[in-house]
Amino acid sequence: MRRIVHVGLVLLVVGMASAGAQQTAEAPKPWTNAAVPVEKRVEMVLEQMTLDEKIALVHGEGVAHRKNASPAMQAAQLLGNGGVGLAVTPPRLGLPVIDMSDAAYGVRSSAENGRYSTALPSNVGSAASWDPTAACAYGTLIGKELRAQGFDMTLGGGTNLTREPRNGRTFEYMGEDPLLAGTMVGNRIKCEGEQHVISDIKHYAMNDQENGRTQVDVHVGERAMRESDLLAFQIGVKVGDPKAVMCSYNGVNGDYACENKYLLTDVLKKEWGFKGFVVSDWGGTHSTEKASAAGLDMEQPGDGFFGEKLKAAVQAKRVSMAELDEHVKRILWAEFASGVVDNLPHKSLVDPQAGYDVARRAEEQSIVLLKNRKELLPLAAGKLKSVAVIGGRADYGMISGGGSAQVDAPGDPDAGKWQHKVWFPTSPLLALEAKAPEAKVTFSSGENVAAAVAAAKSAEVAVVFAWQWESEGSDLESLSLPEGQDKLIAAVVAANPRTVVVLETGTAVTMPWLDQAGAVVEAWYGGSKGGDAVANVLFGDVNPSGKLPMTFPVSEADLPHPDLKKPTRGAKPGLSFSVDYSEGAKVGYKWYEAEKKPVLFPFGYGLSYTSFKYSGLRVSADGSSVSFTLKNEGKRKGAEIAEVYAAIPEAAGEPWKRLVGWEKVELAAGESRELTVSTEGLAMSVWDEGAKRFVMTPGAYKVMVGGSSAELGLVGGFTK
Ligand code: BGC
Repeated sequence: MRRIVHVGLVLLVVGMASAGAQQTAEAPKPWTNAAVPVEKRVEMVLEQMTLDEKIALVHGEGVAHRKNASPAMQAAQLLGNGGVGLAVTPPRLGLPVIDMSDAAYGVRSSAENGRYSTALPSNVGSAASWDPTAACAYGTLIGKELRAQGFDMTLGGGTNLTREPRNGRTFEYMGEDPLLAGTMVGNRIKCEGEQHVISDIKHYAMNDQENGRTQVDVHVGERAMRESDLLAFQIGVKVGDPKAVMCSYNGVNGDYACENKYLLTDVLKKEWGFKGFVVSDWGGTHSTEKASAAGLDMEQPGDGFFGEKLKAAVQAKRVSMAELDEHVKRILWAEFASGVVDNLPHKSLVDPQAGYDVARRAEEQSIVLLKNRKELLPLAAGKLKSVAVIGGRADYGMISGGGSAQVDAPGDPDAGKWQHKVWFPTSPLLALEAKAPEAKVTFSSGENVAAAVAAAKSAEVAVVFAWQWESEGSDLESLSLPEGQDKLIAAVVAANPRTVVVLETGTAVTMPWLDQAGAVVEAWYGGSKGGDAVANVLFGDVNPSGKLPMTFPVSEADLPHPDLKKPTRGAKPGLSFSVDYSEGAKVGYKWYEAEKKPVLFPFGYGLSYTSFKYSGLRVSADGSSVSFTLKNEGKRKGAEIAEVYAAIPEAAGEPWKRLVGWEKVELAAGESRELTVSTEGLAMSVWDEGAKRFVMTPGAYKVMVGGSSAELGLVGGFTK
């Protein structure tokens, strides 16, 4: 039967080709017909592939393809595009190579290849918008710029939970809550994929610290993992339908993530029904047979285990051809299902202005107003006489996150260098000056504290910019601002109570000067147009609406693991040390609440220039939806993120509340609206280790609604 269909399709395509103007002698390629179902196209290609071609597809070409193409590449006359990974699909079959680029908050390493990319605000900033539509715009832009640069696969989609806020990559992730992280990354991935790039979610899983990331074995119970980090991925996969999943460097309960059958096969492929392929993090493959059997489909960046070694294993029947075919089919499926084969990327020019607009809007939605004493903000354009701008290289630009996520900044020839701090030329000083042309605006670098204090004293308002830099490969030593910035801020806020502190950070920071500061604004890493976005918020052209996607603790002593573990010096390669995530599913606000630890700023917190009133809670009988009235009681238009939490029955043994839904809504001054928010059942369930599924514990559920995890004025409930 299958054969008959096949022959029929061949005839159809041959017929179509002969009708065309240009006849070629090439063999027909019926799988290039977009009308054929994806699964069928995959089978057709697989039938054509030799063992060598299959092997070539399941491993990368390293970065060597930039200069020294491998024989396979040379034969195919293919050269990479300067991305970080590449897999060869047989060109004789008319399929494009899989050409990958990192793209956490924009396309990486473009400058060294003579290109330009937009830097969006950091991923954690995007999470702070709590806005799935904004996440979609974020993904769409990255997808477009990848294709314009000739790439057909993204390596974005960071989803690891902020279990440890000192993790050097928190800026690449979506905060501490699985529902928020999964929903936001899912929307980004969905829209990125719609641009016809092979979309990716990473780093699966439990890669929650960078110190010793290739040596650390994470010990965590199944239930805890399912209700925290894995739940974020589960929701991200469901919403975003990524075509690739990158397994992480670390071990999980004794096995490296990239050879962990539980993670890759039992959970991801079987239970979640993921149809795409698993790609290793760069150098994260440690075996041939074990990794292949566990469900790793593609090794990157080279062929240490999935090249000659895998071929030999297949020839010796230590790995079955069926198992190799399964890897190949998944990769081919991703190529067809993403639309890459039917919509080949064509290099074109990135549109910088379009990118600026998306980046500025994204940052405006990401900024979180943390403090605003006596309505110091917004500043009054036209009335302001003098402003002292201090610190943070605000005369030049705004800092960005490093490592493989780094987007090259124009004007910085070292932008691509590892461990080099990159400021984007988006000067908040210039943007503030433009808002208040009548005011006297001064700038002090902050290196000389006395000069900064003098400037702050003589100005009506001081604005201090402070940064905290993060990069892949190592964790922060502490949550304090580096390089004496706390001292500078303390001196400035003491000199002028009308001081606004603007934070450019990738994670939580401690604020020893908080009580004296007039206003505090969290701008995260602001992206290509961060300066304009900050000025728009400070002057009230934009009413801030972001809310914290992670708790800001009072100090490191309150974290589940005050001492961040590192590998011992000289430890042998392999899983040489472990971290025990004994806090389990109590990640972020759940931990502080269960441990009754006060925090500096709670999860979900953020102020506005207007105020909102919640009333009239109604919970549906099964808890699947929650209705209430939200009123903008102030004099300005503003957006509110209305948050819904649930506390589950005591019998579940998890006495902490969890985010189960939210809605972001913009209301005009005085406007009231009745909102109905759907809740996520998974977030209200517990993982039953015996039954191997999520279940809702019978009993009474408490439902709470309000503007932050710590301010939930409406209380109701339902019984299951
Ligand atoms: C990172 C990944 C990245 C890869 C390729 C690794 O070091 O962990 O996130 O995609 O490199 O650059």
